[in-house]
Amino acid sequence: MSSLTMAPHRAGFGATSRRDLWWVGPLATFLGLMAFLIYAHAIVLFVPGYYEIRENPDDFFAHGNRPVAPYLAPFSSPLIYGGHSPHAWIAKDRPDWWPRWFPFTSAMLILIFPAGFRFTCYYYRKAYYRAFWADPPACAVGEPRQSYWGENHWPLLIQNIHRYFMYAAVLFLAWLAWDALYAFWWPTDRHGRLLPDGGHQIGMGVGTILMVVNVLCLAGFTFGCNSVRHLVGGRYDCFACPHNIQQERTGYKLWRWVTRFNEHHMEWAWVSLFTVGFTDFYIRMCAAGIWTDYRIF
Ligand code: FES
Repeated sequence: MSSLTMAPHRAGFGATSRRDLWWVGPLATFLGLMAFLIYAHAIVLFVPGYYEIRENPDDFFAHGNRPVAPYLAPFSSPLIYGGHSPHAWIAKDRPDWWPRWFPFTSAMLILIFPAGFRFTCYYYRKAYYRAFWADPPACAVGEPRQSYWGENHWPLLIQNIHRYFMYAAVLFLAWLAWDALYAFWWPTDRHGRLLPDGGHQIGMGVGTILMVVNVLCLAGFTFGCNSVRHLVGGRYDCFACPHNIQQERTGYKLWRWVTRFNEHHMEWAWVSLFTVGFTDFYIRMCAAGIWTDYRIF
């Protein structure tokens, strides 16, 4: 037994016998998640537009003409309401039923799904229970309350919805993969001139690479999900039982494959959080004309 586990327990919030820097992890988690939440709310939900790089911007924040690029910011994908955007499902700027006085972005209709997937993720639960609720702040560190709610009572019972958000997350991953593929399909030539007759050509810019990397990192996070692991093989009681053996062997192979991602779920969670946030930020900065995307071919 290590000296750490043998240390006598002390009572009271923050009380501990630990001498290591136990508070660094929760603090870094708090800062990282806060930065992401502030970005998602303040920039994406309440700053309309800038989810794609259009020609001749006529909006308030425009910084001159930008070369058109086939990118769609991931926080706005799928783009249900997008006016005349080639990414839009419905060629309107907002739904008719939305109150006129309330700001609208298409991201408001969809972000509940990826946000819900992360919010109810088993890893993130551990991370924000510690970093935001100090419940407890870390192992062997005193917490601020005596009672224990657990996750089999309201309100935390709602965390069980994670398995359903997982299905939505897989769908969103497919949409983002399509967007990454579409980011190779340019309406302009290498010099940024629109192709005649609305034509397109294969191309690649820095944004294309970011979108592809983002999809790969999100796939690493999604396919390492505990609910995916249960779905593909974890629900079987026996991988080598005589009945239904083929199905269970396939399940075992899939389960082993998912387990590889699951073993590094925390790392995938942070890397994919960064790539999705940065890809979104990059495209919006280019869309506002503050950054210029580099076309590789
Ligand atoms: Fe983390 Fe499902 S457990 S995404």
